[in-house]
Amino acid sequence: MPRTSLPVLILVCLAAACAPVPPESALTVEQPEGWADDLALATPVDLNPDPDILEIELDARVAGVEFLPGLTTPAWTYGGTVPGPLIRAKLGDRIIIRFTNTLPEATSIHWHGMRVPNGMDGVPGVTQDPVGSGEAFRYEFVARDAGTFWYHPHINSSAQVGWGMYGPIVIEDPEDPAGFGDDLVLMLSDISLDDIGEFLPADNGGEFGDLFGREGSVLLVNGRVLPTLKARVGKPQRWRIINAARARYYNIRMPGHRLSRLGGDNGLAARSEEIYNTVIVPGERADLVFTPQGEPGSEDLLQWVPVDRGFSSTFNRGREPMLAIELADLPPVEPAPIPLELRSIEPIDLDGAIEHSLDMTIETDYQNKVVMGINGIPYWNVVPIEARVGETHVWHLKNATSFAHPFHLHGYFFQVLDESRIPEWKDTVDLPAESELSIAVRFDERAGTWMYHCHILDHAESGMMGQVRVAPAGD
Ligand code: C2O
Ligand code: CU
Repeated sequence: MPRTSLPVLILVCLAAACAPVPPESALTVEQPEGWADDLALATPVDLNPDPDILEIELDARVAGVEFLPGLTTPAWTYGGTVPGPLIRAKLGDRIIIRFTNTLPEATSIHWHGMRVPNGMDGVPGVTQDPVGSGEAFRYEFVARDAGTFWYHPHINSSAQVGWGMYGPIVIEDPEDPAGFGDDLVLMLSDISLDDIGEFLPADNGGEFGDLFGREGSVLLVNGRVLPTLKARVGKPQRWRIINAARARYYNIRMPGHRLSRLGGDNGLAARSEEIYNTVIVPGERADLVFTPQGEPGSEDLLQWVPVDRGFSSTFNRGREPMLAIELADLPPVEPAPIPLELRSIEPIDLDGAIEHSLDMTIETDYQNKVVMGINGIPYWNVVPIEARVGETHVWHLKNATSFAHPFHLHGYFFQVLDESRIPEWKDTVDLPAESELSIAVRFDERAGTWMYHCHILDHAESGMMGQVRVAPAGD
């Protein structure tokens, strides 16, 4: 064996010593200490010892919340906090909510995006009686999809949601192919406060408020005004963003950093994608990976930037800071690769599909009062679409109005028939002003009457809401 000469050995050792230390891997380092403390959400107490059952008490009540420093707002809340407690469970868990209502008026809870039995869907007069002041209701269902969902009332919803009634739900899949840990729920909303911290009347702006959809003047992330999030260069965070605002659209962008989209309403999409921005409409969710870039020790902002949702006044205004981001003064880490293929999503078979046209309409009645509807019919005169379990429908959504409408369907996930989109399951989709799109849905189970509506809650309340009546198979 040839012996390595001394000079060669010295050279090798020198080279090793001079080589840059490889950065630590993002998978092994932790987020900066207290990284998400400012965004902490209330968590409920699980009253059930069974590890596969989450059983909680939840009450709707008026509670003083300090949104603005030194000013106490009598908010309408779930459990005393805005947002309400984070319901986190795993795929297949049974969730039981012992709900009581101590608000001065009736309410109900709709589990937005959860495929619950019809009687648990929370629509008063359709799937249950309203839960009156002082009354209780037991909600119970199984978490059948992994993803980010939310809950909110379905009575007087623009007012009740606008006063603080909304809460997040995360259903985890233990086999999530994109699991990085470091999950962060960002529940976005806004409130309309006067200068003593009280809510403006729910009908502020009158008919124009209904028409434009009410946006609050104060932006909230997890119920806080401009909270601070800590991050570390290269270390990914999984942002589960929920738009709980009555009317506001959010265009999420973080120039200078890396943003990837994993999916939205029903958890993962078929593929991940690197994005510059993504628009999240009321009711919709986005599952993103934020990988900070830039200088350790520097600061950045997640800003609200205007989205054109009809008329120039929704668009021609300034940006507003929403979330401060502090990059910890720690050495950067090597970002973790994000898998490209996330989930297989078969296109819905359209063979024999039944077609319907749904036209979002804004008209004026004989008194010159604005009436919104679908196919010219406001909700109070609703004629349900008839369907049957086992049927596939294609709905052609049309919007000839000058406002965008986020279209939401209860009870079932749909696919948007647009080949330029990465396949995913959705329950809410934007229908921009003067546009059309088609969705396919299979009414595969759970007969009953289900709602669909614009998720600008002022529009829904002004009539832009309909029903599909799904009859049991073979009747
Ligand atoms: Cu998020 Cu009918 O609602
Ligand atoms: Cu609308």
